[in-house]
Amino acid sequence: MTSLFEPFRLKDVTLRNRVVVSPMCQYSSRNGYATDWHLVHLGSMARGGVGLAIAEATAVSPEGRISPGDAGLWEDGQIEPLQRIVAFVKEQGAVAGIQLAHAGRKASANRPWEGDDHLTQDEGAWETLAPSAKAFGANLPKVPREMSKADIERVKGDFVAAARRAREAGYQWLELHFAHGYLAHSFYSPLANARTDEYGGSFDNRIRFLVETFEAVRNVWPERLPLTIRLSITDWVDGGVTVEESIELTRRLKASGLDLLDASHGFAVPDLSKIPWGPGFLLPHAGRIRKEAGLPVAAGWFINEPEQAEAALKEGQGDLIVLAHALLDDPHWAYHAAKKLGVEQPSRVLPPPYGHWLKR
Ligand SMILES: Cc1cc2nc3c(=O)[nH]c(=O)nc-3n(C[C@H](O)[C@H](O)[C@H](O)COP(=O)(O)O)c2cc1C
Repeated sequence: MTSLFEPFRLKDVTLRNRVVVSPMCQYSSRNGYATDWHLVHLGSMARGGVGLAIAEATAVSPEGRISPGDAGLWEDGQIEPLQRIVAFVKEQGAVAGIQLAHAGRKASANRPWEGDDHLTQDEGAWETLAPSAKAFGANLPKVPREMSKADIERVKGDFVAAARRAREAGYQWLELHFAHGYLAHSFYSPLANARTDEYGGSFDNRIRFLVETFEAVRNVWPERLPLTIRLSITDWVDGGVTVEESIELTRRLKASGLDLLDASHGFAVPDLSKIPWGPGFLLPHAGRIRKEAGLPVAAGWFINEPEQAEAALKEGQGDLIVLAHALLDDPHWAYHAAKKLGVEQPSRVLPPPYGHWLKR
């Protein structure tokens, strides 16, 4: 039996294998409402045999969107189009998950293929919020407004309300986006957080927004269902977040009910010069957190080959493998991986309308 095609159980949820659709913004929502694009995007990967499909960064408030095309769950009407997607993903035998997000100082931007820079007033820019009035820089020079305590309380409440809606939509797996320089990561990273109150400065203060948001969501998200976070475990920049800090944060969140860490990295600041890009470059760090924090980990980044994914699992660098580019390239990646890794009757990875014909 390959490790990649071994089922994975977490709380009351069992994934049929370890292949996961990493959350991927499609910038294709209308006022935050999912469209047929999302049904086909996630549906094709679910059909292709993945164990878990995590829907893209879904904004908890309109101001928390990266771009006007982002997905949202800030109002009840947004639940219904998601229910349709969840039902389809489930019908294919995959588990449907969703990532909830607030983009902080990276909000109010154009779609990547339309400039990837901040919107102008004429293009419909909105006020951005962050722990401190410090711009990201580079392509995103807009200075955000420093959040008041009332803002912090409101945004935590927005996460809670969106989590309730996610449950109503039928999701069984929830991920909070604490990575990639968005709002929560900006609180965590000293590179973005210059606050002098209890939400900035020391490690305990920088993690406060993350811990409080996590605990507030844990209170409303069913205990029997996995609640996870995606964390930038390192900033790759001197003076930024370190893997050691992230191990400690993971331990603390574990004590508050964190079920799994989706290990990601970077993007708090534009400086990417120290990132050791290359096949599976984040895996050793993911494996270290898994071991030292004693929590299941989803590992990813620059994993394209089934053999690479299989080796990472065998070496204990993760419990799940999250894929983005590889699945965009081939939504049937899981089926092809099963063939390549010698899984018996790989066509069973696909639903019968396809699998039946691909037996030979
Ligand atoms: C089109 C696209 C959209 C993405 N959107 C998100 C997102 O919504 N949330 C997130 O945490 N990461 C997002 N990412 C990052 C991916 O989830 C993934 O971590 C990254 O691409 C590295 O994995 P890969 O090497 O398999 O592509 C996105 C990546 C791509 C390519």
